[in-house]
Amino acid sequence: MTFLITAGPTREPIDPVRYISNRSSGKMGYAIAEAALDAGHDVILISGPVNLAPPHNAKIISVSTSDEMFGAVHQHADSADICVLCAAVADYKPARVSRLKIKKSADETSIELIPTRDILHSLGHKPARKFLLVGFAAETDHLEANATKKLREKNCDIIVVNDARIAMETDENELLILFRDGETKKISRAPKKILARELVKIFANSQQKSLTKKM
Ligand code: C5P
Repeated sequence: MTFLITAGPTREPIDPVRYISNRSSGKMGYAIAEAALDAGHDVILISGPVNLAPPHNAKIISVSTSDEMFGAVHQHADSADICVLCAAVADYKPARVSRLKIKKSADETSIELIPTRDILHSLGHKPARKFLLVGFAAETDHLEANATKKLREKNCDIIVVNDARIAMETDENELLILFRDGETKKISRAPKKILARELVKIFANSQQKSLTKKM
């Protein structure tokens, strides 16, 4: 099967030297890419800026902004069997990007922010999609309730929930997996590399099941 995986943060420019971003390391997405390759799948990895070695044998597409990631995902989604959107896409971007570096002054200042496009939501509502769609949710509270809402609103097949207080910038994670039919599965705390192997099996089985049903 072909996996399309997004990973890492996005950078939303303010001016030529400044940007808004977040603490995502990209480790979970890269671990899923490695695990999918090890299991014999093809991988298209669409990555924001990270400090990780790219996995061998993956097709790597490097992007910086949420708009670039949106474009790359839509260009390749239909050639994938499974889309795993693991990236921490910025929720907002500056309404205007200054062409010149903004000068420092003693005055208070503010930046007008506008929402970025939600890539997962756009794939979930893509007419006649054939790929399995997996989203991630990093929550700090009411993990299951918030993620169930996300699964419905973004119309995905699976949501993988992690506790944001454990997951960010670390090598370990603890997961709760919610499926479209209401089934849930918990995977207790383990290194991201081990969890990734388990996830790849779960995603491939789910896609296989839905393909068999359609036949
Ligand atoms: O709504 P929230 O950002 O918490 O949802 C997280 C999920 O949505 C992740 O799978 C993330 O990759 C995806 N997402 C996206 N585009 C955005 C924001 C989030 O694909 N603009």
